[in-house]
Amino acid sequence: MISIIAAIGKNNELGLNGDLVFHLKDDMKYFRETTLGHKVVMGRKTWESLPGKLKDRTNIVISRHDVEGADEHISDIESFITENQDTDEEIFIIGGGSIYAAFLPYAKNLYLTEVDSAANADVFFPDFDKSQYKKSIIKKGSENGIEYTFVKYTK
Ligand SMILES: NC(=O)c1ccc[n+]([C@@H]2O[C@H](COP(=O)([O-])OP(=O)(O)OC[C@H]3O[C@@H](n4cnc5c(N)ncnc54)[C@H](OP(=O)(O)O)[C@@H]3O)[C@@H](O)[C@H]2O)c1
Repeated sequence: MISIIAAIGKNNELGLNGDLVFHLKDDMKYFRETTLGHKVVMGRKTWESLPGKLKDRTNIVISRHDVEGADEHISDIESFITENQDTDEEIFIIGGGSIYAAFLPYAKNLYLTEVDSAANADVFFPDFDKSQYKKSIIKKGSENGIEYTFVKYTK
């Protein structure tokens, strides 16, 4: 099964200049706890934005070119989706914008940190029809005056 995990702003903001828009400690912790032990799939630009491999997870990078240092490299998204969308194993798509857009129609779960703030961004989470999902609120919090909600959408 394919799941998406992302932190998004009021206007679906995801990233700016190759970096995250929001740096929330609690969100980083939630991301780590949720994805630990799983396969994590990311685009080459997100891979390059990381300080290193995400520990205790299988790091899978999508690129049309060779990738150094990853556990696995995918160049064909369609085959990967066909092989993985009906598995019991939960595989996490961790960004960025182009990769969320490619996987969104096939994702059973969306773990979104909905940040109640707008920000400058050059990469955005794709719009999706929320009426197609069941929405569960996992937790609300705030950090440095920024409020956020961990929401899980399930199809
Ligand atoms: N807020 C969040 O939760 C969150 C999470 C992750 C990332 N981000 C942010 O999002 C931004 C990066 O997103 P992005 O959309 O610019 O880049 P990205 O999705 O991380 O990576 C794009 C790259 O992935 C590869 N790719 C994309 N589609 C492909 C396909 N169909 N087949 C093969 N390879 C494909 C290409 O790599 P090649 O060019 O090597 O072929 C492409 O250049 C950064 O600012 C990052 O900080 C935010």
